[in-house]
Amino acid sequence: MEKLITIQGVYKSYEQHHVVSDLNLDVYKGECFTLLGPSGCGKTTMIRLLAGHEVPDKGRITIGDITVVDTETGEYIPPERRALGVVFQDYAVWPHMTVYENIAYPLKMEKRPKEEIDKLVMDMIDVVGMHGLEKRLPSELSGGQQQRVALARALVADPAVMLLDEPLSNLDANLREEMRFEIKDLQRKFGITVMYVTHDQEVALAISDRIAIMDAKGQIRQMGTPYEIFEKPADLFVFKFMGVANFINVREENGEYYIGNGQQLVPGDRPVGQAAKWVLGFRPSDVTVSRTGEGLKGKITKATYLGSTMDYTIAIDGEHFRTAIETHEALVNNLMFKAGEDCLINFKALHWFDAEQLKEVEDL
Ligand SMILES: Nc1ncnc2c1ncn2[C@@H]1O[C@H](COP(=O)(O)OP(=O)(O)OP(=O)(O)O)[C@@H](O)[C@H]1O
Ligand SMILES: [Mg+2]
Repeated sequence: MEKLITIQGVYKSYEQHHVVSDLNLDVYKGECFTLLGPSGCGKTTMIRLLAGHEVPDKGRITIGDITVVDTETGEYIPPERRALGVVFQDYAVWPHMTVYENIAYPLKMEKRPKEEIDKLVMDMIDVVGMHGLEKRLPSELSGGQQQRVALARALVADPAVMLLDEPLSNLDANLREEMRFEIKDLQRKFGITVMYVTHDQEVALAISDRIAIMDAKGQIRQMGTPYEIFEKPADLFVFKFMGVANFINVREENGEYYIGNGQQLVPGDRPVGQAAKWVLGFRPSDVTVSRTGEGLKGKITKATYLGSTMDYTIAIDGEHFRTAIETHEALVNNLMFKAGEDCLINFKALHWFDAEQLKEVEDL
């Protein structure tokens, strides 16, 4: 696979604060690569370094076959010559320009002929579903519509590379869900290479070919496909960041493992590797709940109807955790529990983590 963006040994500090430390990553041609991490971890800083609005303290970035910045040789290409489509976090559409003028702007800068501009802009208005709104000013648009204008403006000059900084953050849940598929479709249709940054793990899962997950210190914890990141988390931080997570303390006795101070886990459920103490991580959907048969004995302490799922908080041996069961499955199988009822629990998936990592995550 051909590399289109290469980031090598990039450092960036503001005063004493190291935001990006020795970042190394490659983005391949035609892929959607997402940098996913908590607020303040350096995502926007990374976009600004790529776009050329910031210069690294140290390191080298190449885009295509052009070195856009290299602190060793002093090479630096300014933003307007990097030929990137960029949507910034605050999406900054020009308030005094109409939808049409905003989208046409990059083409005017390139001094393209008027008829060509007209055709490209109208095509792009079609793509983002903004027909009939060409003459409106941004102040006359909803947040989602402004977002589409920003995307159209970034796309119109057919850039080989797009940088998208939380481009869906100001949309409501329904529109966000719709737009993430639209962005993915546009990326495929135009064969664009995308660097996407967000703190939203659901968007990252839906949109990415690969994800790099960063912690609050700007260190990359894991890089992989959405499936790898979600199903094979490299550590507890990654597991916790990717969705609702339960952690249960585990006790070891003569090579067998027990929950908290109580029941034994299924023999054979045991960790690989070394740790002084282990915790079990699992997601609400990693558990089956039943009324009869085998399993760990638990008690429902809270039952909440969430529409498509039933959310049960369950206590076993003094440990509390959350489970999710599809409502229809619960109805069909007599699993509509009430608080106070007894139940049996089996794990479909378990992740073992060194208990030390729990403390570390709390410190981040
Ligand atoms: N110009 C600046 N001067 C000083 N500190 C800055 C500057 N820009 C960013 N920072 C700091 O650098 C860190 C990373 O900021 P950045 O905007 O890259 O985070 P982010 O990951 O994009 O966060 P968010 O998810 O909230 O957008 C933050 O601690 C921020 O306060
Ligand atoms: Mg940001």
